[in-house]
Amino acid sequence: MSKPEVWKYPDAEALSRGAAAFIRELANFSLRRQDRFSLVLSGGATPRRLYELLPISSTHSAIDWPRVHLFFGDERCAPPDHELSNYNLARQVLLERIAIPEQNVHRIKAEREAEAAARDYAQQIGRFFEQEPDTLPPPSFDLILLGLDKDGHTASLFPNPSLPEDSPQWVVPVLQPQAPPKVARVSFTPALINNAKVVAFLALGKDKAPVISNVFDAPWAGSSYPAALVRPKGRLIWFLDEDAASLL
Ligand code: 6PG
Repeated sequence: MSKPEVWKYPDAEALSRGAAAFIRELANFSLRRQDRFSLVLSGGATPRRLYELLPISSTHSAIDWPRVHLFFGDERCAPPDHELSNYNLARQVLLERIAIPEQNVHRIKAEREAEAAARDYAQQIGRFFEQEPDTLPPPSFDLILLGLDKDGHTASLFPNPSLPEDSPQWVVPVLQPQAPPKVARVSFTPALINNAKVVAFLALGKDKAPVISNVFDAPWAGSSYPAALVRPKGRLIWFLDEDAASLL
């Protein structure tokens, strides 16, 4: 794993603008070398402002949305128009404001029960990458965005997971999440996350500072901090505001 990069910003707005500029530049760099750019969106509230900014084409680089494919790193088991749905947030602030073909948005069908939704999503990912689901090495997304909660969970991977670290599964059901909203979830696994070309955490605020310090200081503690299981073969970038980075 390459050494984690910490990109620190004075506040939430600056972080969101910095992350949006990074994604634009990475997408355009990649699309000069390949036909498609696979971007995995994270859930939670932190990326809302980033998603609002992504449709705004900056002076030197707009994103070529028809060549971008959007995925979701996790989802709550709820209808796609439900307030709990990560897709619903992305739809409102991003998807409805960009010219992305419908078939390029790969939604987790989490209105179904978690096991079926997880199996279906692994099949969707397999079709996109033309690879048999749950085979190793997992496919390599161009960029995976992740959030981090105070308990160290990321995506919907919670402390003391029952999932063995060496599991080949790409996507898993999470039936008893240990943090609100306490609805069943569907989540990427560490194996799938760690095969990405770039993984970027976004975290804001003083209340995240202790867990960020723990994740940085105790990478062995994967079982208590799932975020510490994120050790990608590619780049790992932490987009942090000064408060969240204050204990590093
Ligand atoms: C989810 C998320 C989860 C989230 C973190 C941070 O579905 O809940 O994917 O991993 O990213 O809990 O959430 P906030 O950004 O709201 O702090």
